[in-house]
Amino acid sequence: MTKITAAITAVGKYVPDYILTNKELETMVDTNDEWITSRTGIKERRILKEEGKGTSYMAIKAAEELLQKSNIDPTAIDLVIVGTATPDLPVASTAAHVATQIGATNAFSYDLQAACSSFLYGMSTAASYVESGRYKKVLLIGADKMSSIIDYTDRATCIIFGDGAGAVLFEPNTENLGLQDEYLRSDGNGREFLKIDAGGSIMPTTEETLKNGLNSVRQEGKTVFKFAVSNMADVAEKMLTRNNLSKEDIQWLAPHQANNRIIDATARRVGLESDKVMVNIHKYGNTTSATLPLLLADYEDQLKKGDNIIFAAFGGGFTWGAIYLKWAYNA
Ligand code: UT7
Repeated sequence: MTKITAAITAVGKYVPDYILTNKELETMVDTNDEWITSRTGIKERRILKEEGKGTSYMAIKAAEELLQKSNIDPTAIDLVIVGTATPDLPVASTAAHVATQIGATNAFSYDLQAACSSFLYGMSTAASYVESGRYKKVLLIGADKMSSIIDYTDRATCIIFGDGAGAVLFEPNTENLGLQDEYLRSDGNGREFLKIDAGGSIMPTTEETLKNGLNSVRQEGKTVFKFAVSNMADVAEKMLTRNNLSKEDIQWLAPHQANNRIIDATARRVGLESDKVMVNIHKYGNTTSATLPLLLADYEDQLKKGDNIIFAAFGGGFTWGAIYLKWAYNA
């Protein structure tokens, strides 16, 4: 029997028009372009400014671009998964709204939340449905409106994050292209170092929580940084050793875009030169669930059928992991 693998067959993206530059941030908090650039690699990020528009707005745009580029009939989609840490509403699946708006009327849909690892975990989920033969067209979207949960007086977080969305389609493949291996991890002890305290079931939102700034993301940057560097590098390396791959076998590293120094450390560990490392952090900052699909969309033109790509991510929870995937088409 022919083995069925799950391949990415199309990508799409959307970022809002508004550009928040380091220079503008200088007028908001005590920071400067030189510090942000040298410590993170970020020059600017996109912000969804329009009132009344949430994560789904960007997710829909990314999915629509994918559908239009690939000429796929949305009614053929079986499942829509939206990886996001910033759903439109605390209750009511963002994915359900997205699926309906894009015309995926035969799909079921749900959200998947694993902070910055949402899309990576979603790749595993989407691929498993396809490999099992249960579904044939799974649309995976990573989308976050981080500006909705950022305190723009907190320089430890506001300089890093941005808004955006990316979408990919997983379909069955019989040429052994697509997802090859994965190593996904989590450690709940990390929760203390990167979180939003209020607005959940432990501490519902009150006037007091709002007054005390407990409804925004807080992080102990240095601690998160250390865990991210060692864990992302470990799992990326594991993908190579476990699959008997040398650095020459790898065409691309697609690392979560949180900090250029974390990206460099991961690339160094697997021995890859910078021309093999996908990077767009300078343009978008950390878009949480959207970093990996935005990379694929930005690099799609350079990807070739059969290219070996190592994905790696690290995020709140803590959650992290790596995926080894063979690219399935020439753009
Ligand atoms: O997506 C997954 C989750 N997030 C991450 O992976 C983020 C991981 N962490 C980081 O990327 C980095 O820790 C940050 C970019 C957040 C901070 O960089 P850092 O090199 O760890 O800086 P630091 O917090 O150790 O601060 C160094 C200095 C301090 O001053 P002193 O004590 O040395 O005088 C800070 O007060 O830089 C100061 N500082 C700033 N200065 C200008 C901290 N933030 C800023 C800022 N602008 N925005």
